Amino acid sequence: MPALAPIPETRVEPLTWSPSSWRHRPAAQQPHYQDEEGLQTNLRQLSGLPPLVVPEEVEDLRAHIAEASFGKRFMLQGGDCAEQFADCKPDAISDKLRILLQMSVVITHGGRRSVFQVGRIAGQYAKPRSKETETVDGVELPSYRGDLINSAEATEAARRPDPRRMVEAYFHAAATLNHLRALVVGGFADLHHPERWDLQGSTRKIDTYCHILERVRESIDFVDAIAGTKGIYLRTGEFFTSHEALLLPYEEALTREDTGMGHHYNLGAHMLWVGERTRALSGAHIEYLRGIRNPIGVKLGPGVSAEDVRELLTVLDPGKEVGHMVLIPRLGVDNVRALLPKLIEAVQASGHPVLWSCDPMHGNGFVTAHGLKTRDFGQILAELNQTLEVHRALGSNLGAVHFELTGQEVTECLGGSQQLSELDLHQAYETGCDPRLNQTQSLEMAFLIAEMLGERVIR
Ligand code: PEP
Ligand code: CO
Repeated sequence: MPALAPIPETRVEPLTWSPSSWRHRPAAQQPHYQDEEGLQTNLRQLSGLPPLVVPEEVEDLRAHIAEASFGKRFMLQGGDCAEQFADCKPDAISDKLRILLQMSVVITHGGRRSVFQVGRIAGQYAKPRSKETETVDGVELPSYRGDLINSAEATEAARRPDPRRMVEAYFHAAATLNHLRALVVGGFADLHHPERWDLQGSTRKIDTYCHILERVRESIDFVDAIAGTKGIYLRTGEFFTSHEALLLPYEEALTREDTGMGHHYNLGAHMLWVGERTRALSGAHIEYLRGIRNPIGVKLGPGVSAEDVRELLTVLDPGKEVGHMVLIPRLGVDNVRALLPKLIEAVQASGHPVLWSCDPMHGNGFVTAHGLKTRDFGQILAELNQTLEVHRALGSNLGAVHFELTGQEVTECLGGSQQLSELDLHQAYETGCDPRLNQTQSLEMAFLIAEMLGERVIR
């Protein structure tokens, strides 16, 4: 029998959880490191390094997620599909923060809900792949699995999994997070100065955005005048980090016990999620995630059943804790109406207080005639729209969205107000993995989300 064959559910004995108990379960999508000694040396180093975040921040995110699940706040999760070490540059980092802040101000203004941001950032370095190999310029090579594991460079040697990359990833994540924190503390996110997030150019959306900023500024001046709060730092919401918990030895090494409460936290990010390809109930990823206190996202693709969701929640969230679970369907625009209602009803019946999100990106990908992976703005929007309608019809709350986006004007997704066509894609196609919304498309999406959420207030 192959080493990673799935184990039938009925024969899975419950394990006593520890940060390493996942090692007794079949682990999908793990690289095979040839250098076992190097692997151990790097993991030892990693587990002795200071955490990137602290438990108090994780608890704070749990509180935010709890409020989002009640409709009091809204969670905007977004960033690159695959973050790369080369993105660890001041402009690339501030551009990502800026677009999330811009979107937040638009959604808060129109949707009347305080928005907090969870970046796919400062650790989103590992990618699940559907195939073991890929063909680059006619040569078949092991697939690129993200900078945490191997290099995107198209040579056999560069594609070999290298355990030193785990420590490198930690330091790149630390530098990225340090810059994000400095920007936020230094006033970049201060609503008194949203001109720091100004947009150049003039299209209808940009003009509307500038108008909103002006109104935000006036409202703040008004509140400052009444409350005497001038000079107090006021931000759009908190900023948190997240990544897919894919490479389990890395995640284990960043797991720490909080001796006060006896909880285990993954202190490599505030939130972790499990991907569509690794969420097998009896698999190693679910075993690892069931023991940590961080908020856990679960991606749900079109193959998921209501029973799968119920079982996953039973294992991951036995205490039915508010602020703990984020369900992230990524069903594809053609499947939402048929599949989502059953999932929502199953969760309602289960009593797990989840935050519902929607990832309208991963179910809508396709490859152009020129061989580029892309997604269409109209389909992304339609999936989101239908998702919101289904939630409303069932008395449920869509309290979050999950996007792959960037603050730069790349040309990776089709459509939007720039009406990008297949022929435009090659102009600035820069993603390390999946296609992202560019700055203009992201902002436009924020306006449409604000409109959709705002309707609820008017009704
Ligand atoms: C991702 O979020 O980049 C991803 C691979 O998603 P999924 O697991 O939903 O396919
Ligand atoms: Co992706």
